[in-house]
Amino acid sequence: MGDLSPAELESLLKRAAHLKKEMKRGSQLDSLKGRVVGVLFEKPSTRTRTSFEVAAIRLGGNSLYLPSNELQLSRGEPVKDTARILGKYLDVIVCRVYLQDTLRQFKEFSGISIINGLSDIEHPTQVISDLLTIMEAKGRLKGVRFAFIGDGDNVCNSLLLGASMVGMDMVVGCPQGYEPNRDILKHARENAKRSGSSVRIVNDPKKAAAGADVLYTDVWVSMGEEKERNRRMRAFNGFQINSDLLKAAAKDAVVMHCLPAHRDLEITDEVIEGKQSIVWQQGENKLYGAAAALEFVVRS
Ligand code: CP
Ligand code: NVA
Repeated sequence: MGDLSPAELESLLKRAAHLKKEMKRGSQLDSLKGRVVGVLFEKPSTRTRTSFEVAAIRLGGNSLYLPSNELQLSRGEPVKDTARILGKYLDVIVCRVYLQDTLRQFKEFSGISIINGLSDIEHPTQVISDLLTIMEAKGRLKGVRFAFIGDGDNVCNSLLLGASMVGMDMVVGCPQGYEPNRDILKHARENAKRSGSSVRIVNDPKKAAAGADVLYTDVWVSMGEEKERNRRMRAFNGFQINSDLLKAAAKDAVVMHCLPAHRDLEITDEVIEGKQSIVWQQGENKLYGAAAALEFVVRS
């Protein structure tokens, strides 16, 4: 997310909204004609993988799913060697990786565009579609009071960067010790100064939710953190989005979750299925965010 300027993010959001209209209308699109997108994932995915593959096809291109466990990477071939070769076959690679450094190596050695499809630090394409969804729900981004409740994880980090660029006031309500990445927080605070918005971290979920226009959460145990499960379950006790917490937010607040969700852990079944949930629209919008991101990298 940090690779994008506020102007680039704004134009990506406009493009995603436009592509949503065109794709729903069934228009013939060809911005990726003749291009092949590789989707190289080290971790499971339902939405990100499928939305990127479908977006590539709908834009007139092709896609190839490359699960890392079926590549020679799984037998120890270095990332840089893999990147050098795949860069000669493909036009873009969407990578979902355990370590941000793997992305860096793909960028350095492939010679082609690399899109972060989730790493330990960031999930930027998620946030493009999330901002599109907030825009649709609230009619604006600037001044929207946005509360992230839960783990200061990859999704939270990218939301901090995105929200601060578009002028949303973001508060993170997380347990002590589960705050977002320090460098990202610094970057977000600088963005917020420029956009005239604010970034706050609190350790009380009710304080975070108070008066919020949007409540957002993510899982308490991200992929790769499974060994910490018991400790995390104890730490996040009380950080659930439930009807009680929702009462602290604005009357017309909406609820978001990047999915996959664990019902009755970070969010109750009642809230995710309830009237204020825009989670399914949010999930759908991943397709248009992916399409805009693919167009953006093939053009630049
Ligand atoms: N939200 C999201 O990235 O979902 P997937 O893990 O299914 O891609
Ligand atoms: N924070 C979660 C996001 C899943 C889309 C994870 O990394 O597992």
